[in-house]
Amino acid sequence: MFIYMTKKNGFCVQILAGGLGTRMKSELPKVLHEAAGIPIIGHILRAADAIKPEAIGVIVGHKAGLARQAVETGSAKWGITAPVEIFLQQQLTGSGRAVQEAMPFIGRFSEVLILCGDTPLLTAPLLDGFYAAFAGSGAAAAILTAQVPDPHGYGRIVKDRDGFITAIVEQTETDAETARITEINSGMYIFRTEALKTVINRLEPNGPKREFYLTDAVRLLAGAGLKIAAVPAPDREFILGVNSRLQLAEAEQLLRARKLRELMADGVTVKNPAATYIDEGVSIGRDSVVFPGTHICGGTVIGKNCMIGPNCHITDCELADGVEIKFSSVLLESRIGQGCSIGPFSHIRPGCELAQNAHVGNFSELKKAKIGAGSKVNHLSYIGDAEIGSGVNIGAGTITCNYDGVGKHKTVLGDRVFVGSNTNLVAPVTVAEGAHIAAGSTITDDVPAEALAIARARQVVKEGRYKKRP
Ligand code: UD1
Ligand code: CA
Repeated sequence: MFIYMTKKNGFCVQILAGGLGTRMKSELPKVLHEAAGIPIIGHILRAADAIKPEAIGVIVGHKAGLARQAVETGSAKWGITAPVEIFLQQQLTGSGRAVQEAMPFIGRFSEVLILCGDTPLLTAPLLDGFYAAFAGSGAAAAILTAQVPDPHGYGRIVKDRDGFITAIVEQTETDAETARITEINSGMYIFRTEALKTVINRLEPNGPKREFYLTDAVRLLAGAGLKIAAVPAPDREFILGVNSRLQLAEAEQLLRARKLRELMADGVTVKNPAATYIDEGVSIGRDSVVFPGTHICGGTVIGKNCMIGPNCHITDCELADGVEIKFSSVLLESRIGQGCSIGPFSHIRPGCELAQNAHVGNFSELKKAKIGAGSKVNHLSYIGDAEIGSGVNIGAGTITCNYDGVGKHKTVLGDRVFVGSNTNLVAPVTVAEGAHIAAGSTITDDVPAEALAIARARQVVKEGRYKKRP
């Protein structure tokens, strides 16, 4: 029955993202608030795109510039393939007004799925099932509904004897009888556009704010004798609307729990799901283990048999198989080769590339550093703007002096270089392969291959200088 993943000709999605989001009490448009590492609008676009509409319209209004920019820059990152058209709602007077203004877009298609910009828990299978039920019903429109224990705040679904919808009653319009209805409007609708066109301009201002409610279109359609099908959502979790910070936190928790369930189903061990934070865009290979207190964010990709955490923070990194990231390490925008070991307490800043079996240990910081296979930066070092060969040993406390107050300079160490403890490498500087640097040196000049460089004052011993006088 699923038509999932097949292109639906003449079918578009329209996302309503123009509202004021007053209850969020925020400077940011509601749709840009993040849940599980992706803005709410990103979740909606991803699910909408996955059911293969011909095009997706997004109507923005409140803080339109910010919303437009986020959708424009985000679409590629979220892997959206359908053409996305963004347009501005001129009058911010309700969901019905938003659809009126979207009609030049919607009118080009024969069917439209209308989604609110604030339901990040929807999924592609949910939408696909909804579409299949609509297509099978022969109705002029369908509404995704849900049974909820506390319907307060949602539009209530009123049906006729045959189970078709005759009206949606908004919270502010309920009377004692309709207030008791526990089947609610999810805010997801499918219309045949021919039918929608006949009623959309006949909406009257409604409610305390005199807004145009999209939900009033339902009453008008039913009044004209058209059938509107109610399609129950398989679980009310899918339709949670985010109107407040409390609901945002609920949505975040549900999304994260869902992501962790998926990872565990795919063979990842999560020691304590309640204390593990993994963004939706992350992937992790089989038999990897994630310890508590760990945040894995953005588009991070982790291979098989990795051990991560506890208390690590990894954003937009690529980790090959068999990598170990130990206690309290932070990794950003870097690539870590097979079998590497990092931490405890390491900081890998953007632009690092570690080849296989490299080690970075306690209190070492790396930035824009390439570290060759099997090389070690085990203790208390800062390695920035550096290219380090394979089999290199960096002694404790080594610092690349990469900044001269004006520009950044590069340090290059060849294969098998040995750097003694507490060395300063004043960049730009090159130490060729196999060379040794004596501990405590400040290296300002290039060192040739296989040489020993010592750059420190010779020790002077003044005998008896502090001898106690009788
Ligand atoms: C809406 C429905 C309600 C449903 C609930 C589900 C209406 C009138 N009511 O209520 O029946 O149970 O969603 O979550 O639609 N928007 C615009 N432009 C505007 C106003 C709103 O684009 O001028 C957008 C908002 O950004 C939002 C959507 O329309 O994405 C719904 O608006 P919202 O204020 O959240 O409606 P609810 O009160 O939640
Ligand atoms: Ca809402």
